[in-house]
Amino acid sequence: MTFVPAKWPRKLRSQKWYGGTSRDTIYHRGWLKNQGYPDDMFDGRPIIGILNTWSDLTPCNGHLRELAEKVKAGVWEAGGFPVEVPVFSASENTFRPTAMMFRNLAAMSIEEQIRGQPIDGAVLMVGCDKTTPSLLMAAASTDIPSIVVTGGPMLNGMFQGEAVGAGTHLWRFSEAVKAGEMTQDEFLNAEAAVTRSSGTCNTMGTASSMASMAESLGMALSGNAAIPAVDARRRVMAQLSGRRIVQMVKDDLKPSDILTRNAFENAIRTNGAVGGSTNTVVHMLAIAGRVGVDLSLADWDACGRDVPTIVNLQPSGKYLMEEFFYSGGLPVVLKRLGDAGLLHKDALTVSGNPIWDDVCDVKCWNDDVIRTVDNPLTAQGGIAVLRGNLAPNGAVIKPSAATKSLMKHRGRAVVFEDIDDYKARIEDDALDIDETCIMVLKNCGPKGYPGMSEVGNMGLPPKVLKKGITDMIRISDARMSGTAYGTVILHTAPEAAAGGPLAVVRNGDMIEVDVAARRLHLDISDAELAQRLADWVPTHDSAVSGYAWLHQTHVGGADTGADLEFLKGCRGNDVGRDAH
Ligand code: FES
Repeated sequence: MTFVPAKWPRKLRSQKWYGGTSRDTIYHRGWLKNQGYPDDMFDGRPIIGILNTWSDLTPCNGHLRELAEKVKAGVWEAGGFPVEVPVFSASENTFRPTAMMFRNLAAMSIEEQIRGQPIDGAVLMVGCDKTTPSLLMAAASTDIPSIVVTGGPMLNGMFQGEAVGAGTHLWRFSEAVKAGEMTQDEFLNAEAAVTRSSGTCNTMGTASSMASMAESLGMALSGNAAIPAVDARRRVMAQLSGRRIVQMVKDDLKPSDILTRNAFENAIRTNGAVGGSTNTVVHMLAIAGRVGVDLSLADWDACGRDVPTIVNLQPSGKYLMEEFFYSGGLPVVLKRLGDAGLLHKDALTVSGNPIWDDVCDVKCWNDDVIRTVDNPLTAQGGIAVLRGNLAPNGAVIKPSAATKSLMKHRGRAVVFEDIDDYKARIEDDALDIDETCIMVLKNCGPKGYPGMSEVGNMGLPPKVLKKGITDMIRISDARMSGTAYGTVILHTAPEAAAGGPLAVVRNGDMIEVDVAARRLHLDISDAELAQRLADWVPTHDSAVSGYAWLHQTHVGGADTGADLEFLKGCRGNDVGRDAH
């Protein structure tokens, strides 16, 4: 696609606050001058909001204040005026009941922070899982020129001579303790080794997956996704992004120019190629909904079905983000997708160029970390979307992280009504369960939890683990951490709390899973299912006030991105009336 830059100079939106000699503009300029800015900072140059999700309680983004200084340097160099703005930071490892409940609140608040303030362009400083989609959603809904700078992944963890991945090894070690293969003391010793430095999870978890989504969408400079947080080149990337956003404002290169349907298709295929998180499905559907691209769950299956997973990273594979960076990072993946005819090469990026221009000459430095398309980790690596009477609106599974022998299976349902019920009974040796059963968890979707928690990868019962079994089929309306693995069917829609068929599964029902046929079937008659649904009464907790009420009342299904329905679409950046 050919982008035609706007004419420069022209009057920018920040001049509504700072241009002219009226009492109001004197008021706005005067207040900012109390920070020591000279007159010519208000001469119409681009004002760049560095939207920073730094927080002491979002440790994955704990280094973003330092990184912001490099962004500022780049903005100054390019003749812009940088202003750093703290924004809602929903930490994956801190927020309760789940950070996902606050993704939409963050997006809503940041959208208003952009629209209501004198910002001509935005640098989205993100990292931890929900920070990336929430800022992209806000940027899409306001449509001011925006560029993503992620904080980058942490360095490899090492424990007992083994490279250990954040998240992934937490799950592994936790199961090993239950199976009697690891002591509790060893598990405690592993704690600091797994999360070794500043940065986001070092696996291809949700943070790295969303960084890959931002780059493959064209919303970050080429190479951004994989540079480790503490590598000097991460700081260079920040400075270059600061320079670039100033030119983007001058050119009026907006999210709506970049976030086209082709860009989303590139991202879906990229997610398959990197073995990315299932969480990207809900986030990308939500971002598409903000920018008005008609993307559906079916597109994930259609676009991703034949995409091989070529990135050999945990949790699907062996290595960690450091090796991915040393091997060439995401540009190599995009190059290999392009060579295989799996990339829209002309999709525009923040560089102002087609995405292919940025990657067509890159080289791979380790073909075991980034495999060739002919020698993949998994031949069909995209997210599979299952449907059937148990999931009329769809459910998802990540085949690259699942057990091949369980991809077609018929098993007896062992049902947990909610996560508390699961926790109360899973370690009871009297629980009637074995490895052939299918674990079913209800009331953990967007309305039910509320917030769609990452509890879908329920730990296996100890009595099964002690047999050396490490995987069973699990079905829920929850999500799963991007660092997790297993034959886990997620995002079942409609969710149980909305009266979906998942709500009426009973202990002893037989369930059929066939991933190749994309089938998820509850083996009861249509009449029986209809009667159970007619008799169903909700059992989840319902909030009566506050944000929890707003969320439960207005959140959409996982199959449409779990956004608040009234936030869908682009509302632009017009303040509506003159400032003040
Ligand atoms: Fe924040 Fe993984 S928990 S990036």
